[in-house]
Amino acid sequence: MIKKEILLQLKNISVHYGGVKALDGVNLELDEGEIVALMGPNGAGKSTILKVIFGLVPLHSGKILWHQKEITPITYEVVQMGIAFVPQGRRVFSNLTIAENLEIGGFIVDNKKELKRRIEEVLDIFPVLKRKLKLKAGSLSGGEQQMLALARALMIDPKILLLDEPSLGLAPKVVKEVFNKIKEINERHKTTILVVEHNIKSLLDIVHRGYILDKGKIVFQATSNELRQSDILEKVFMGKLA
Ligand SMILES: Nc1ncnc2c1ncn2[C@@H]1O[C@H](COP(=O)(O)OP(=O)(O)O)[C@@H](O)[C@H]1O
Ligand SMILES: [Mg+2]
Repeated sequence: MIKKEILLQLKNISVHYGGVKALDGVNLELDEGEIVALMGPNGAGKSTILKVIFGLVPLHSGKILWHQKEITPITYEVVQMGIAFVPQGRRVFSNLTIAENLEIGGFIVDNKKELKRRIEEVLDIFPVLKRKLKLKAGSLSGGEQQMLALARALMIDPKILLLDEPSLGLAPKVVKEVFNKIKEINERHKTTILVVEHNIKSLLDIVHRGYILDKGKIVFQATSNELRQSDILEKVFMGKLA
């Protein structure tokens, strides 16, 4: 079997907020084309992992490697490299139309024709948005806004998509639709996806493998099948991990 290329590697990274050790010696890697879950209780450091990759918080120690080369993430450069981030709470521009939101997502594309092509490509995955292009984003339902946030992130044609709690505040049926879209993005574009969720077992249906984070440390990593069968999630969430 051919080993897939490692795109991004976090090596023994720590992040501090003042006196708070948010991450403590985290090792994590993302390979080409995989969907990886990052799960753990509130305050575990999940969002901090995404933020440090996206250059939003500084490293205290450790290394980040992109294609085996050490980098210091700076947001604008990270976007140029092909990493997109959808933060928690689907912050779409409510007063702008869906089309305008997508154009903003493609801000690094300076060629008008290419911008148009990308919008069409992205809308292929989200027909519900295609029908509402001229509407204000604020008029969309929560699930549709999450779809728009995903679509907007895809406008840079990312190699890696970082998603922070895409299910937050959505009804179970809508969560399933969003997860299915995440899977479709991965299958169509071979996009590597790191998706943070608090404790949603249904996420395991779409991911290849996952990490469990607790108090700033990775306490478990396994394939989704192993995670489904293990009681590690319950243990972590019940605070029963030694
Ligand atoms: N800007 C900040 N300033 C100080 N402490 C922070 C800040 N952001 C996060 N933290 C703390 O860092 C830890 C990890 O936070 P976070 O990464 O948001 O966890 P999660 O996403 O898993 O809920 C928590 O203890 C949190 O309170
Ligand atoms: Mg968080």
